[in-house]
Amino acid sequence: SDLVYIFEEMMMDIFRKKDVSKSRTGMKRHLKIHDLILLGIGAMVGTGIFTITGIGAANYAGPSLIISIIISALCVSISALFYAEFASRIPANGGAYSYIYAVFGEFPAWLAGWLTIMEFMTAISGVASGWGSYLKGLLSGFGIQLPTALNGTFNPKGGTYVDLLPILVLLFVTAVVLLNSKAALRFNSALVVLKFSALALFVIAGLFFIKPENWSNFAPFGFGEIYGGKVGIMAGASLMFFAFLGFESISMAVDEIKEPQKNVPRGIVLSLTIVTILYILVTLVLTGIVHYTKLNVSDAVAFALRSVGLSWAANYVSVVAILTLITVCISMTFALSRMIYSIARDGLLPRSFRQLTDTSRVPKNATILVGIASAVCAGIFPLASIASFLNICTLAYLILLALAILKLRKDNGMPQAGEFKTPFVPVLPVLSIIICLSFMTQYTKETWQAFGIALLVGSLIYFGYGYKHSEIYADH
Ligand code: ALA
Repeated sequence: SDLVYIFEEMMMDIFRKKDVSKSRTGMKRHLKIHDLILLGIGAMVGTGIFTITGIGAANYAGPSLIISIIISALCVSISALFYAEFASRIPANGGAYSYIYAVFGEFPAWLAGWLTIMEFMTAISGVASGWGSYLKGLLSGFGIQLPTALNGTFNPKGGTYVDLLPILVLLFVTAVVLLNSKAALRFNSALVVLKFSALALFVIAGLFFIKPENWSNFAPFGFGEIYGGKVGIMAGASLMFFAFLGFESISMAVDEIKEPQKNVPRGIVLSLTIVTILYILVTLVLTGIVHYTKLNVSDAVAFALRSVGLSWAANYVSVVAILTLITVCISMTFALSRMIYSIARDGLLPRSFRQLTDTSRVPKNATILVGIASAVCAGIFPLASIASFLNICTLAYLILLALAILKLRKDNGMPQAGEFKTPFVPVLPVLSIIICLSFMTQYTKETWQAFGIALLVGSLIYFGYGYKHSEIYADH
């Protein structure tokens, strides 16, 4: 019966909740609405549009990838509404982790936090490796090539051991973020503008080369299966989900945002709308000027321009992609270091991650950890595995978030005046869970295994460290 007692205590403890009204951080409120839109776009537009659209069109959906994009955007927007309601009702700095902490308690919150850490860490790696591929392409034009051993992820049979370029860029990114967050974001904003110029150039120049007959076989792989499909519009949607990741970085920076109740929801909605329109236009032009069957390349946008003879535009796009994929890494490193900071502040990760730099108030050790871990991942694992792993982790905690909004409404009632209210509850949360599950079933067995291992490791860390060191002491 001692055992039963201990078990009961533990069950109470692992669902202990945090009183978020007490949480305050040492950070400054300096971000305005345009900073937020740039932060959101900087975090979202990246490898997804520059490389994955091509792969998606060629292998999953053809020109109908634009429908995949809309379905993906729908999934992301519903979750973004939940984020907005949580951000305006629970002003805490850790995204899904903090919200679930307040609603479901510690262990579910830790799982969501852990999955978010996995998501961002591998997303940074994935984008850095896309960056590496673009640079390699450009350098090879000048006949420059790295030694084979340093030119690809771990694959001794192919003679490659480590992908050096992504590792180097992540060292640079970590240094920029550490320097100070405001400078990092200013740098980010400048590059976001450049990124837009390249994609706008692509859309406008490409318009003149569209051959409508390229769209004639609009949905060559059909709609696919709602559950468990491998190709088709739905599988394309589960892949393109990657291109929207980063949308939540806005709500994670809420402690540094002026008037967060008003600006967080606006920032999320505006940046998602802009990004969706951009992705649809780019995909339409891409599949309009080149037949979808030829798009299975790692630099789709530049490739399409080159194939219609616009090599000057192709080179511009390549250089810009190389410069701006860095912005995605910066935004995500910025967001993830804050996430780890919040979790460490609650005692679920070691204290040293709470240390801020003296002048810029950036969580120092958390940022360094993010840099090292994502660099190691990028050096070793291939992009395709990274992308599907991070998608499944994200979908899993978005399901938790949808459940949390239902619980929040049940426990705390409707939002007050001035707070953001998600429309159509409970319809939207239920719809969100259905769409997320449907996306999750499109992935391979290997992805599910990696996901299972991640959950296991996360649980071990919680019961080995977080459970004992949590700042919330149960009153017994
Ligand atoms: N959404 C990010 C990208 O497209 C991960 O690169």
